[in-house]
Amino acid sequence: MPSLVTSLAERFPCRSQEPLASWTTLRIGGPAECFFEPAKPEHLVDLLNALAAENIPWRLLGGGANVLAPDGGVNGAVIHTGQMRRSFREENKLRLWPGVTLPSLVRGAAELGLSGVESLIGVPGQIGGALAMNAGGADWGLWDEVEEVTLWWPDGRLEAWTPEQVRPGYRDGNLRGAVVVEVLLSLKPEKEAVIRQRMESLLKKKNASQPVTLSSAGCAFKNPPQDSAGRLLDAAGMKGQREGAALVSERHANFIVNAGGARAAQVRTLMQRMHQAVADRFGIDLQAELVIWPEPEPA
Ligand code: EPU
Repeated sequence: MPSLVTSLAERFPCRSQEPLASWTTLRIGGPAECFFEPAKPEHLVDLLNALAAENIPWRLLGGGANVLAPDGGVNGAVIHTGQMRRSFREENKLRLWPGVTLPSLVRGAAELGLSGVESLIGVPGQIGGALAMNAGGADWGLWDEVEEVTLWWPDGRLEAWTPEQVRPGYRDGNLRGAVVVEVLLSLKPEKEAVIRQRMESLLKKKNASQPVTLSSAGCAFKNPPQDSAGRLLDAAGMKGQREGAALVSERHANFIVNAGGARAAQVRTLMQRMHQAVADRFGIDLQAELVIWPEPEPA
């Protein structure tokens, strides 16, 4: 693999050996060889095309709210979307760059009297990552509000796609290797007070049932059909179980919390134990929601 620093850094400034623990909500992850922060969607596209042309491996990081970054870091490029934060109103629609944070989207939409994204209250991600995983609640996902998304494809195509073309599923944006460059959300006009009331009641519920003040990455497993992974993990006795500094929250059994200095390896082991406990007790094969980046190959 060509050295990233020599081959690209002149055209695309990057931070070398950037600790990923600073950019993930679990506060876990070793250094990224080259950490890029494009400021505009055009820069993101140029960078992706250059990385593809040079055959350099890359990973995309949004708010780091659903990622387990490896202890050994990442060889190659990590592209952080967080500098691309602009949003534009078009009547009842919002055109957003991928780094718009979910808290600012939720707050901004309420201020404009636009309803549809309230369920994302309290979720710390960014719009690009939230589309990649179809973030949301148990029976609603962000894609429900999408009119059109601009996607970059690894062969260099830049295309507008509708949700009907993308066909996202539960907690799965189904992006098939594409990258979200921009999105248009179609929202409904609603009185700001009504939206705020809904937000407050949802936030109250989440504060009571989730460890919102601790370092976590939300739910570790997807819900199986017609059930809740949290309920199953709780019934299998997983609350309070730990592996080093990684522990299963006492408040919600599908949340893994970093109690201070946890390692990715500990989280992976704890997840295996959680998976096994539910398989043994209920015969259910839980699927991970947390996106686990692999440890780098030894040199
Ligand atoms: N429950 C337990 N014990 C627990 C956790 C939950 O018995 O430790 C029970 C609850 O009492 C309730 C049921 O399980 O009867 C469902 O729990 P909850 O309402 O907390 O919802 P969930 O299905 O666990 C889903 C999403 C969350 C989202 C909430 C609220 C998934 C995997 N989880 O949780 O999303 O915040 O609904 O909308 O879809 C995430 O994906 O990261 C996430 C946090």
